[in-house]
Amino acid sequence: LILVLDFGGQYTQLIARRIRDCNVYCEIEPHNVSIDKIKGKNPRGIIFSGGPSSVYLENAPTVDPAVYELGIPVLGICYGMQLMTHQLKGKVVAAEHHEYGRSNLQVMQCDNIFKNLTADEECWMSHGDRVEEVPPGFQVIARTEKAPVAAMANPEKKLYAVQFHPEVVHTPKGMEILKSFLFDICGCTGSWNMGSFLEEAVQEIKQKVGDRQVLCALSGGVDSSVAAVLVHRAVGDKLTCVFVDHGLLRKNEARQVVDTFRNRFNIKLVHVDASERFLEKLKGVTDPEQKRKIIGTEFIRVFEEEARKLGDIDFLVQGTLYPDVVESGTATAAVIKSHHNVGGLPEDMKFELIEPLRWLFKDEVRRLGEELGLPEEIVWRQPFPGPGLAVRILGEITKGKLEILREADFVVTDEIKKAGLAREIWQYFAVLPDMRSVGVMGDGRTYAYAIVVRAVYSHDGMTADWARIPHDVLANISTRLVNEVEEINRVVYDITSKPPGTIEWE
Ligand code: XMP
Repeated sequence: LILVLDFGGQYTQLIARRIRDCNVYCEIEPHNVSIDKIKGKNPRGIIFSGGPSSVYLENAPTVDPAVYELGIPVLGICYGMQLMTHQLKGKVVAAEHHEYGRSNLQVMQCDNIFKNLTADEECWMSHGDRVEEVPPGFQVIARTEKAPVAAMANPEKKLYAVQFHPEVVHTPKGMEILKSFLFDICGCTGSWNMGSFLEEAVQEIKQKVGDRQVLCALSGGVDSSVAAVLVHRAVGDKLTCVFVDHGLLRKNEARQVVDTFRNRFNIKLVHVDASERFLEKLKGVTDPEQKRKIIGTEFIRVFEEEARKLGDIDFLVQGTLYPDVVESGTATAAVIKSHHNVGGLPEDMKFELIEPLRWLFKDEVRRLGEELGLPEEIVWRQPFPGPGLAVRILGEITKGKLEILREADFVVTDEIKKAGLAREIWQYFAVLPDMRSVGVMGDGRTYAYAIVVRAVYSHDGMTADWARIPHDVLANISTRLVNEVEEINRVVYDITSKPPGTIEWE
């Protein structure tokens, strides 16, 4: 285990990602984690992340200096290097010239963490303060034009630090530096992979559950699906999945979920077809927030009813991912949309949680899903909002509109997949605005719905740009939509990025 201590840097998660890419397991902890907790985790190495602060500021994030006496190798990055310098009695000053972006790195000692570097390299800098004097026992091992100390080392104490960012791709030899630290200095073996994660997770869940009962709310999305199959592997029939089908899913989706889990994995699955019930509640409702709230509330109600029918249940499986764990409790952003996720469940029901994915990033969850034998359509499924097609139908939701949208969405998805664009585009789907226009088909006038095609590039859904789909593909989509979906006579493409638009229309 490598421990990454977070000093508030924007690349902290990226550091963790890079370490795991080296098949070394790592966890992130806040900078003020207690020394006992660090010892308890028994890490092979510790990495200090960067951060926006200055070591001289009041309330600057710091770490218990006992960390330098544990005999565990430490690598300080950016702010981490300045903090190490400050705490070990070197000198940090505010630089006259801030250094942002690409810099030439003159490597003065090509050994230890720099053993795979040459004297002349490139690195990515982003700092205001700089180290002026290294602490006693340290040597300067690299410099740039603006930073006389771009890296330093005290090999005897296994303390290393770099002012630049080895974790970003703009430092071409960054991975080499991390690897030298992990493998040569910390003695990691690089044998951590999804297979070993899976084995450990199965053992742990088995032990925790014993012969008690486990419940899982399955949505058919990647996270809950992987979590369910993983837990099933550990506890078998002690797991019951409840799939609340709110009738707002895409074409064939419900059938596929039932098929996969019941028939392929032999998982006990309660399929609740609650579509009529949801439609009834949504009758006449046009306000987007109200729609979301109704669906969220109703979802919990249905789930709760089913759970009570099952009798005594001790555990609930949730597909929480690592970024949620790390980020929870920080941002208190304005409410743009009340998100609904399968998992925000009844407060008065006392379950112990099983969160088998809480240490994984999204792409690792996908790899785990593949390891578990989940079909590609589920493992590589695009993100889909909890309230489903309801947030893609503007105005009142009716059965008829749902039918139109389902067919239209199927055409869009099908063409994107056929064009081989499915993995590079983050989300691609159809939206049904509450809008009709005049057209001509055959020799007659039509007055029918317009459909909006939405497709975006994104890394995390927080920001997005509209996808530059080739015109031929758009042409195919358009032709098929008007030909195959009755009641559509016009197709438009949404070319709004996020911000200012959101990905979904409601
Ligand atoms: P927006 O529309 O806010 O969407 O730009 C950002 C990402 O979140 C998805 N989304 C949801 N996901 N429950 C979810 O689990 C929701 O209520 C929800 N609303 C939007 C959206 O599809 C996009 O990936």
